[in-house]
Amino acid sequence: MAGSVSFFFFFFFSSSLLIFSSTHVESNEEGYISLDISNKGLDFVKEFLVEMAESSLVPLDLPKIEKSKHIPIIGTVSMVLSNITINNIHVISSTVKAGDTGIVISVSGAYANMTMNWEYSYSNWLIPIPIADNGKASIQVEDMDVGISFNLTNHQGSLMLSPLDCGCSVKDIFIKLDGGASWLYQGLIDAFEDRISSSVENAISKKLREGIVKLDSLLQSLPKEIPIRNIAALNVTFVGDPQFRDSSLILSINGLISSKDAYAAPPYHHLEHLLASLEHLLATVSVKDPTSMVTISLHEKVLVSASSVYYDANKMHWIVDKVPEQSLLNTAGWRFIIPQLYRQYPNDDMNLNVSIFSPPYLKIKEHQIDLTAHADVVINVLNSGEVTPVACFSMAVSGSASPWISNNNLGGSIGLDEFSLSLKWSKIGNFHVNLVRVLMSTALRTVILPYINLKLSKGYPLPTFHGYMLQNAEILCSDSWIKICSDVAPVKQSSTS
Ligand SMILES: *[C@@H]1O[C@H](CO)[C@@H](O)[C@H](O)[C@H]1NC(C)=O
Ligand SMILES: *[C@@H]1O[C@H](CO)[C@@H](O)[C@H](O)[C@H]1NC(C)=O
Ligand SMILES: *[C@@H]1O[C@H](CO)[C@@H](O)[C@H](O)[C@H]1NC(C)=O
Ligand SMILES: *[C@@H]1O[C@H](CO)[C@@H](O)[C@H](O)[C@H]1NC(C)=O
Ligand SMILES: *[C@@H]1O[C@H](CO)[C@@H](O)[C@H](O)[C@H]1NC(C)=O
Repeated sequence: MAGSVSFFFFFFFSSSLLIFSSTHVESNEEGYISLDISNKGLDFVKEFLVEMAESSLVPLDLPKIEKSKHIPIIGTVSMVLSNITINNIHVISSTVKAGDTGIVISVSGAYANMTMNWEYSYSNWLIPIPIADNGKASIQVEDMDVGISFNLTNHQGSLMLSPLDCGCSVKDIFIKLDGGASWLYQGLIDAFEDRISSSVENAISKKLREGIVKLDSLLQSLPKEIPIRNIAALNVTFVGDPQFRDSSLILSINGLISSKDAYAAPPYHHLEHLLASLEHLLATVSVKDPTSMVTISLHEKVLVSASSVYYDANKMHWIVDKVPEQSLLNTAGWRFIIPQLYRQYPNDDMNLNVSIFSPPYLKIKEHQIDLTAHADVVINVLNSGEVTPVACFSMAVSGSASPWISNNNLGGSIGLDEFSLSLKWSKIGNFHVNLVRVLMSTALRTVILPYINLKLSKGYPLPTFHGYMLQNAEILCSDSWIKICSDVAPVKQSSTS
């Protein structure tokens, strides 16, 4: 029984924690899991987006620029800049703000390196043969400010990003011509600065807008269900619009678990490159801020749905053949309690066939989770390879569990509140059920629970997701909700720190 109870305990928490294997405080209508992403968490997401933008914006090709300029004596010089490419962009600092007007990311002091080809030609009445020259040029764009704002809403259960505004302004630009008689035309090129600047501004704004549209379609394509161990699926449909409160972003998902058999894992591969960049980013972010990046709140209905799925999947039957006090599983241990059992099957081993016959009742309260389970326990006597059921008890156990998370281990302790036992049937005649109850209850309190608690006190490692795990996580229980406050970190980083 020890194994089963600790399994039970572990099951509830591991199934609820599995949710991370896949990625808010009050729920609205039907959101049973909510994610409250703090400023620190938003900052983290922003760093991620900025880093993605830096690499996905380049190389960015700008349209060709042509310009003619009349110069006294020389005449009209026509100049063409082509193959204008932004090769890299580097962001110095950025901020994110979430509010009723959407999410605003501002970047200041970015710079970019560009290259282009230049060519000129002119002719006048003095020189009848047209003169032409060409070469390459490098351009440095300095002090670029970029602002982007978008609205985050719920569209048919998926998050929808809609770009609201997107702007880019270039303060300084330096052009250096190479090749040909470039020294001669360096002065001329300055006339292009404004054209190049505005071309950069337009191209970056347009590309960022496109980036948001792509991110939006990625969000819309995310699955609405996440499979759990081939028997169940977590409903990750978003419920209600995202809310902005005290500069944090609150997202709610349905969060209930329902049964699914032979679940085919949805294709996640389109997320792989995203996760790879996330990994890179996480490795560079130092987490010193004491506030948590994210608070995950789980309503007790999530646990209830998990337990009923598990129940329906027929997973709540156990054969208990090992207990910490092994003498309890031999008829000799019962000699004085059920004498006729010992008389009929002297010194035979026994096992217990435990079947929970309704989904366990579960309620989250301040600092603890109350659990009640009803089970049938059949006593089997094992006699030279034969299994003989001799009696069946109907049992109700209620207790409470207090979970904790420490160093990425989920542990806890269980206490027993009530224990009741009655005889359902017996093949060995009547006996004193009271004595059995006292013995079982004593065994539970003095042997089995201490044994389980010893195991639980060591904790179970929290599940990881694509190489990520919770860091500095804490768990709190209060009035129907479990809250987990945590940072996110790659497994490698936190195992070395
Ligand atoms: C255009 O520029 C890229 C580098 O930015 C260079 O590799 C390529 O050869 C150039 N194309 C032409 C036609 O000059
Ligand atoms: C963002 O979307 C919400 C919900 O559709 C809407 O009420 C709000 O006005 C939008 N905000 C802006 C700035 O468009
Ligand atoms: C890009 O431009 C910055 C300054 O704007 C400069 O420091 C850096 O060396 C340039 N990088 C390349 C690869 O040209
Ligand atoms: C998932 O949750 C959404 C939102 O609460 C609900 O409308 C939908 O019916 C749920 N899907 C399933 C399969 O339960
Ligand atoms: C355990 O007991 C249940 C009825 O309570 C029975 O259906 C099942 O076959 C038993 N399992 C074993 C292995 O004895």
